Amino acid sequence: MAKYLVERSGPLVGEVAISGAKNAVLPILAATVLTKEPCEIYDVPQLRDVDVMCRILRALGARVDEDPKEHTIVVEAAEITDTEIPYEFMKQMRASIFLMGPLLARMGSAVMSMPGGCAIGNRPIDLHNKGLKALGAKILQDDDSVEAIARKLTGNKVYLDFPSVGATENIMMAATLAEGTTVIENAAEEPEIVDLANFLNKMGARIRGAGTDNIRIEGVASLHGTRHAVIPDRIETGTFMVAAAITRGDLLLVNSVPDHVRPVIAKLGECGVVINDEVDGLRIRGDLKKLRATDIKTLPYPGFPTDMQAPFMAFLTTVQGSSTVIETVFENRFMHADELNRMGANIRVEDRTAYVPGDKNVLSGASVIATDLRAGAALVLAGLVAEGHTEVANVHLVERGYENFVDKLTAIGGKIRKVEDVA
Ligand code: UD1
Repeated sequence: MAKYLVERSGPLVGEVAISGAKNAVLPILAATVLTKEPCEIYDVPQLRDVDVMCRILRALGARVDEDPKEHTIVVEAAEITDTEIPYEFMKQMRASIFLMGPLLARMGSAVMSMPGGCAIGNRPIDLHNKGLKALGAKILQDDDSVEAIARKLTGNKVYLDFPSVGATENIMMAATLAEGTTVIENAAEEPEIVDLANFLNKMGARIRGAGTDNIRIEGVASLHGTRHAVIPDRIETGTFMVAAAITRGDLLLVNSVPDHVRPVIAKLGECGVVINDEVDGLRIRGDLKKLRATDIKTLPYPGFPTDMQAPFMAFLTTVQGSSTVIETVFENRFMHADELNRMGANIRVEDRTAYVPGDKNVLSGASVIATDLRAGAALVLAGLVAEGHTEVANVHLVERGYENFVDKLTAIGGKIRKVEDVA
């Protein structure tokens, strides 16, 4: 197993090019099975999860040509030979669930074992099932697997009890080929949903309202191939914004969409970080003012993203005064607090609230474990400002979501290297 060795690095300074969004490209790749024609996807980040999705598509019978240097993938699902996602893939990546809607719509059947993924709480798929059932699918589920079958999908009204990102995407994809109109109420509004809808519309789908809580999909008989460039990753953007803040650095983030990171801009601003939307990109300066505490509460978009909670918490340990962090999206997403405490952070967690005392001018290096993807990023950021050495284990989780993380950090002055743990 590989780990990162991180050392106190001083202010990070320079330019970072933000990669395409992991959470946009995964459902987009899944959506390519909705057509027999080739789809060309650009700005694809080179990530482990993307690789897993490509391997799944191949296992289903699609032809997948990857050009990692060009960040391009071409998928041609002329024939689908299987509708069951092999367990070895499902256990690696929860996003495999995105194939349920497209496979059902194209083939009338989809079978998968219960998804794996990050250990950040119970992650049910009841809302995915509810939506697909409303479109006429029969769902057979036990503890280990779920099977969806439908001779035909018919448009319907679906109310989501919680604006789940994955459920909104799955239902939207299935509804593109359903007969009649589907309306998703209380839909998730994340930019990745808009990107997926744009991609599907380029394939000939008729989707309106993506990006609001009410999405309307008029079913069409078939979809065709298309080309699409993936949006920049707003969580990678947010992570590097926090990297500038925590190290009191000065970074220019190129290829970022400021509108997608409004809550992070607002909250860093409250702390005293100076952020400017410049012609070349988003400039983040943590070196101009004394930084102070703020409170955050995670919410569905456009609220503060749960995926930014861990990196932001690491930052809050270093500012003046105490902060409160409330996690409302996932039930168990504070495991990084224990790890940060090993570095001297003194965070206290009560239910879904974390109390971060702050004022840690100097965290201390320690051996810590990335408990999930974003927790891993948080520990790396903490390591960059901690006295001595920090060893972050389980970094394969970090590499699920950050393209060239080590190289990007090194280029702006981060002292970090990856080593294979021989033990
Ligand atoms: C997506 C993102 C993930 C992000 C999350 C929330 C991808 C690949 N992943 O995950 O990075 O952290 O959105 O912004 O896009 N829920 C149910 N029933 C369901 C589905 C979800 O109760 O059927 C609950 C979950 O347990 C969780 C909440 O809804 O508490 C949010 O989950 P959801 O929005 O579905 O997240 P994902 O799509 O899995």
